[in-house]
Amino acid sequence: MGVLDEKVAIVTGAARGVGEGIATALAKEGARVAVVDRDAITAEETAARLRGWGAEAHYFHCDIRVTAEVDACVAQVVERWGTVDILVNNAVATSAGMAVQDITDEDFDLVWQTGPRATLAFMRACYPHLRGGGRVVNLRSGSEFQTLFGYGHYIAAKSAIGGLTRAAAREWGRDGITVNAVCPFVLSPASEAFFADKPQQLERIISGFSIPRTGDAEADVGRAVVYLVGPDAGYVTGMTLSVDGGAVFTA
Ligand SMILES: NC(=O)c1ccc[n+]([C@@H]2O[C@H](COP(=O)([O-])OP(=O)(O)OC[C@H]3O[C@@H](n4cnc5c(N)ncnc54)[C@H](O)[C@@H]3O)[C@@H](O)[C@H]2O)c1
Repeated sequence: MGVLDEKVAIVTGAARGVGEGIATALAKEGARVAVVDRDAITAEETAARLRGWGAEAHYFHCDIRVTAEVDACVAQVVERWGTVDILVNNAVATSAGMAVQDITDEDFDLVWQTGPRATLAFMRACYPHLRGGGRVVNLRSGSEFQTLFGYGHYIAAKSAIGGLTRAAAREWGRDGITVNAVCPFVLSPASEAFFADKPQQLERIISGFSIPRTGDAEADVGRAVVYLVGPDAGYVTGMTLSVDGGAVFTA
């Protein structure tokens, strides 16, 4: 018996990293998990791993930059499991860091399309199914508050997701839908690649945290999402939960 038994959850970018951890935590609480990603090989492996633990999980291919693919993906999930109760907008793609004056339209478009625009596309497509008790969790970033040198395009996109989260929370509460956000700190493939050539910077950052370690995608971030989408958080909306060991205090 899990707190999410019978619930249908979509997790974007669930093939690896933070999304995989969230998908795993939801599956272990009994949710049927749609592992949504464009990386078919890794996502199929993740879905198979969840099924190996007795969970109901399935890979749904989607390039979240393409709204028609988002609509088709949500329709396929509904066709398979009848509805969508939980939506976790986790996937994002960004180009490497660069000074603000060097950010190109292409750099901005990539993070904008995979960030706020895809988040909106999934929220819009899922809305009819979420009405009457649905939950949305969007992934933001502590870099919005602390800034991250060279990532203006990413910070702008994440801030837009914060705005969308608050706006939807304000409007959708009357529909019985809560909309919250999470700021994680986890060594995922993306963050490992970011710190690969600067291990000392990573060490320095972590040693400054109130809880000086990296987060666990499942045990820390995934469990926080289980709370936000579970029965104990029905009166919580429009909030952003930092699951980052107190990194927020190092700004
Ligand atoms: N890792 C951290 O410490 C950290 C910190 C702050 C915020 N976040 C946020 O958490 C989320 C996950 O981060 P992560 O570090 O696990 O990232 P990651 O790059 O390791 O994983 C992202 C996943 O999204 C998928 N994806 C990318 N583009 C896609 C597309 N167009 N269509 C479908 N799927 C696509 C990738 O295939 C991958 O599986 C992101 O929103 C990120 O901004 C992470």
